[in-house]
Amino acid sequence: MTKLSGRIALVTGAAGVLGQAICKKLITEGAKVAVADIDAAKGGAFAQSLGTAAMFVPLDVTSEDSWRAAVGTVSQALGAPDILVNNAGYLKPANIEQATLADWRKTMQINGDGTFLGCKLGVEVMKARPKTLSSGVIINLSSAMGLRGRAPHPAYTASKAAIRLLTQSVAKHCGAEGYNIRVVAVLPGAIDSDMLRLNIPAGGTKDEFYAHTSTLNLVGRIGRPEDVANAITFLASDDASFMSGTDFPVDGGSTV
Ligand SMILES: NC(=O)c1ccc[n+]([C@@H]2O[C@H](COP(=O)([O-])OP(=O)(O)OC[C@H]3O[C@@H](n4cnc5c(N)ncnc54)[C@H](O)[C@@H]3O)[C@@H](O)[C@H]2O)c1
Repeated sequence: MTKLSGRIALVTGAAGVLGQAICKKLITEGAKVAVADIDAAKGGAFAQSLGTAAMFVPLDVTSEDSWRAAVGTVSQALGAPDILVNNAGYLKPANIEQATLADWRKTMQINGDGTFLGCKLGVEVMKARPKTLSSGVIINLSSAMGLRGRAPHPAYTASKAAIRLLTQSVAKHCGAEGYNIRVVAVLPGAIDSDMLRLNIPAGGTKDEFYAHTSTLNLVGRIGRPEDVANAITFLASDDASFMSGTDFPVDGGSTV
């Protein structure tokens, strides 16, 4: 018996680097997974590569109508989701002098509105879960950058900090209402990904950037997407049944 057998997961931004690793790991542990992304071509092809344990569902996380349609489609096809990973995210490096109001709004829409709507729909769909079943779980992707401001990232850091307190608030609400739902935030550090490589300084190389970044944590390497996927799979499982409301860094200790 695998840790997540019988569970239904919906992962947003699932066509991306971390999203793909998360979906694969959840399936390895027995879950059925809805691969949700705004990029239908990439998400559809990825879902197909996963076989019968996965389906693609189109989702724009910034739209409540899109969320309702996606959750309805998944509930009909697989069953009501009991694991929701709010993973879709957006980062555009631009310091306060470079960033436009449009940059700020796009970041806040995808990272902030998207996670808010995910939590709202997640609670709606999971709140009737009887206590005799495993808890519903909502996992929000914040970031190590949600703990400290960074000069090139005023919008991204603000959006990821917002996700941490959104997580706490939703977890406290679920607790107060007696819902069988846990809500946690995962804070990845520097993970080998397209998003990380957006941070390579002008004129620098990837190798130089990775070598330097590896010295900024206690493990001495760049994180792998699988490191985040492993943590998320643990948090989704009953092994984490006494964990809710808090931050879970996956950053090699870079924020200690
Ligand atoms: N990569 C890192 O080092 C790192 C570190 C900390 C936190 N994170 C967070 O982890 C998450 C995943 O990061 P990643 O590196 O895999 O990013 P990525 O850019 O590879 O993937 C993001 C995915 O989100 C999708 N997406 C964008 N806008 C969307 C929308 N409106 N609706 C639905 N889907 C949308 C994209 O199509 C893409 O597939 C993000 O929330 C990111 O902020 C990443």
